[in-house]
Amino acid sequence: MTTASHPPASQSATQARSETRSEAPPSPSPVLETRNLTKAFGGLVAVDDVSFSLQAGELLALIGPNGAGKSTCFNMLMGQLAPTRGAVWLKGENITGMNPRKVWRKGVGRTFQITATYASMTVGENVQMALMSHHHRILSIRPRAHRLYRDEALALLEMVGMADQAERHCAVLAYGDLKRLELAIALAHDPAVLLMDEPTAGMAPRERIRLMQLTAEIVENRGVSVLFTEHDMDVVFAHSHRIMVLNRGQLIAEGNAEAIRNDPRVQEVYLGGGTVFAQEDAADA
Ligand SMILES: Nc1ncnc2c1ncn2[C@@H]1O[C@H](COP(=O)(O)OP(=O)(O)OP(=O)(O)O)[C@@H](O)[C@H]1O
Ligand SMILES: [Mg+2]
Repeated sequence: MTTASHPPASQSATQARSETRSEAPPSPSPVLETRNLTKAFGGLVAVDDVSFSLQAGELLALIGPNGAGKSTCFNMLMGQLAPTRGAVWLKGENITGMNPRKVWRKGVGRTFQITATYASMTVGENVQMALMSHHHRILSIRPRAHRLYRDEALALLEMVGMADQAERHCAVLAYGDLKRLELAIALAHDPAVLLMDEPTAGMAPRERIRLMQLTAEIVENRGVSVLFTEHDMDVVFAHSHRIMVLNRGQLIAEGNAEAIRNDPRVQEVYLGGGTVFAQEDAADA
């Protein structure tokens, strides 16, 4: 364990803390933190000097227009891309430059693409496989492992509302159900931090809301910290404790839903200025 001290919070982060909704936990110790995180692809600076922290039990949204640098930022957090400059800290340890598997083993989980599930196996077996992997059990001896971690798998499926589908094969699942299974698989590794890059992409609006409600419940019940990207503003405003806005690689705003909605720089980026985000109570707008 490193003895290096934590990086200080950026000024914008400090300002944002005072605006944070009461639901956001007042934890003084960040689980995940970046400091001056920067990634340049040749002359293009995709992520430019980004410093932020994710608190324990926080549901934090990273939003921004297409090409803003969100996925690049995620890829540096999970070890898939080495930063050009800056650092990533996990629970006080500098994890910059560690490979994805090591970062994952240290407790940074993520939701995978659909293809990460085994189509020929059942929903329950997929979660059991993830649990076996987490507990370092050898898979080849009992490839279908009907009993191992069965109860734990069912408990995780219960959590994502999929227990009644445990015996179904993944190949026949609806898209929204696969995304929920993906979440159960990620949770099987008991992550401290869960990174979700556009978890609701391709889902119908009702399914999106449902998945994010589920994610919010998981944050609350398991104390997992979640950082997610999302293009649907209704989903972001309804479910995040705090929101960060990235534009052309730079963090331009940070705060709760109201602060972000009313931020002129954010309105400029999203709507070209002069327009406000729709609000439920904006009947007279
Ligand atoms: N491997 C790469 N090589 C060169 N340029 C890249 C690479 N990956 C990303 N970029 C560029 O970096 C910028 C940021 O891309 P990124 O995918 O991080 O954006 P994003 O915010 O995730 O966008 P979206 O909302 O569309 O997913 C874009 O201009 C993109 O073209
Ligand atoms: Mg992206």
